[in-house]
Amino acid sequence: MEILTPIYLPGNGISRSLNCPIIQSPLAGVSDQVFRSFVRRWSPNALLFTEMVNAKSLELGHGEQKVTELSEENGPIGVQLFDHRPDSMVEAALKAESAGAFLIDINMGCPVKKIAKKGGGSALLKEPELAQKIVKKVSQAVSIPVTVKIRLGWCEATSDPISFSLGLQDAGAQLITVHGRTRRQGFSGKSDWLAISKIKRSMDIPVIANGDIKNSQDAIKCLQMTKADGVMIGRASMGAPWLLGQIYEEIKYQKPFKTPDAKMKINLCIEHLKLLLLKKGDHGLLIARKHMNWTCRDFEGASVLRQKLVRANSQYEAIKIMEEELLKFN
Ligand SMILES: Cc1cc2nc3c(=O)[nH]c(=O)nc-3n(C[C@H](O)[C@H](O)[C@H](O)COP(=O)(O)O)c2cc1C
Repeated sequence: MEILTPIYLPGNGISRSLNCPIIQSPLAGVSDQVFRSFVRRWSPNALLFTEMVNAKSLELGHGEQKVTELSEENGPIGVQLFDHRPDSMVEAALKAESAGAFLIDINMGCPVKKIAKKGGGSALLKEPELAQKIVKKVSQAVSIPVTVKIRLGWCEATSDPISFSLGLQDAGAQLITVHGRTRRQGFSGKSDWLAISKIKRSMDIPVIANGDIKNSQDAIKCLQMTKADGVMIGRASMGAPWLLGQIYEEIKYQKPFKTPDAKMKINLCIEHLKLLLLKKGDHGLLIARKHMNWTCRDFEGASVLRQKLVRANSQYEAIKIMEEELLKFN
């Protein structure tokens, strides 16, 4: 289908092609390397993102794991940075580039108070000049493409996303992703795809539409309405790492893709837990709990299984519970 055209980003010396325009959202606390490895199982060519990385910390040599583990990535990986200080963003972007980032994304949408209060994330929506300065400095410093993820504005009254986006384009951004809500909206209301379509119409660089896409029907509707170059999927992929691949295949081949059944989902949870334990030690169980809770849905007995898993006190108990559940299918 024509709506799945690859996206070309010229870079500043190093160009990149996004062969799959169905993109995985950066999701703090979720899109770690283990989660991404599952997404790639169904969607090997998709652009995935790290969880957002604090540029100042990275500049100072803290929290480097999110970039050092890029070497384990088997496909295109964008490193998403946040901060309001252009020089810290440049230093962090250079570190991410040399660690193997496919591109650098700048976060201008995060609504979290702790971040916005210091001037990063969505606070930059109120500071177009500073936002442009950051994009300009970072895109001049690195050779790979620089992209930006924005919301429609800080609040409806002051929102002028078209001028804001044009400013980013002039400053050197090579793609923007738009979550169709303002910062004030948080996650309430609906993502305004019409507003995204107006931004798309005004821009020369590719625009990715984001917000409230849960399946291939939503993705097609959003692509048709916005004429965006691609879509980004966030919350709906939590617990469903197959979703990106499912959406891509359903659009490309126009036939339903079979959602994993109960047995596959439970096996996936066991594998996810084991990989997290290997990577994070005992803390892996805490992280795996939320993934297991999201994945164990939509099959008979799922709710009881979730309740048992929440109460599991150790990794051994959690694995035993899931292995016993699997016996039902033999
Ligand atoms: C748990 C969670 C973590 C998120 N972390 C990030 C992040 O690190 N960077 C970012 O730009 N957006 C982040 N977002 C926003 C999503 O990337 C996305 O823009 C938003 O959820 C709307 O898309 P959706 O409706 O497909 O979920 C996060 C959202 C959630 C729910």
